[in-house]
Amino acid sequence: MRLLTAAAIAASVMLASVVAQAEPIKIKFSHVVSENTPKGQMALKFKQLAEERLAGKVVVEVFPSSQLFSDGKVLEAMLLGDVQIAAPSLSKFKKYTKKLQVFDLPFLFKNMDAVAKFQSSADGQALLNSMSKKGLKGLGYLHNGLKQLSASRELRVPTDAAGLKFRIQASDVIAAQFEAVNALPLKKPFSEVFLLLQTKAIDGQENTWSNIYSKKFFEVQENITESNHGLIDYLVVTSAPFWDGLPADIRTTLEGSMKEAIAHGNKIASEKAISDRKRIADSGRSTILQLSADDRAKWVSAMKPVWDKFAGEIGQDLIDAAVASN
Ligand code: LMR
Repeated sequence: MRLLTAAAIAASVMLASVVAQAEPIKIKFSHVVSENTPKGQMALKFKQLAEERLAGKVVVEVFPSSQLFSDGKVLEAMLLGDVQIAAPSLSKFKKYTKKLQVFDLPFLFKNMDAVAKFQSSADGQALLNSMSKKGLKGLGYLHNGLKQLSASRELRVPTDAAGLKFRIQASDVIAAQFEAVNALPLKKPFSEVFLLLQTKAIDGQENTWSNIYSKKFFEVQENITESNHGLIDYLVVTSAPFWDGLPADIRTTLEGSMKEAIAHGNKIASEKAISDRKRIADSGRSTILQLSADDRAKWVSAMKPVWDKFAGEIGQDLIDAAVASN
């Protein structure tokens, strides 16, 4: 009996040491932007909070600037288990859901408050789970900001864009938006944009102030039109089987850490929309053009017909709900 007890104790000590030595869960977080951006800072904040709160249990490795996967590959890699968290722009999910295309409609949101209102509404929250059947789970939205147009030529009215080649994200809505002004959209990964602009293989692009600043697009684009015509925000996404398979206490702590990291990233997004714009203006490398109300109305009427083209895929109700948040 005593022998048995001793053996049981020895076994449980061994088991405890195996548990203690268990490898921490490794979470790879891959993204395409620089660290000095809302997404870059959010990813680092998530790493810091998760590793503080789950010391020894979880390790988060952050790979910025497309070091691990480019934007075209990261979701496939996630489904294969090669990466656990990413935050692609809402424009990059079309293979998995057509619903998120709502965020690409030109001139849909008046400002970032309207974006936040729509994202936190019941319709916006339901979209987080719009890809669950495909194995992807939305953990939350993260802001970057409104998009500006940049080009080698001054873009004051829509006809100025005619015939120019613009790099776009892999979105059919954005392609239609540029076709609506007789420009030539080219779907290219974010990692290639600077070189394409520098070598003049393309004439322009559209992006947020923080991306234009952090990736130095302003150094190779003489003209930026402050158009605020569209949105780059992100869906923080994970693999549903990975997330659902985590021990419940770890998952809850990670969800709390992610919520705080997103709030931190959102704060940086609103600061950078102002400070990175100013840095670009102060650099003297590009001229920032502000549109008159008349000229802006011309862009709106040229691009807005795109909405009708995608209403079937997105759902008119969802478009109406987004409009209602303005
Ligand atoms: C882009 O491809 O222009 C952006 O989606 C990059 C990013 O992640 O902000």
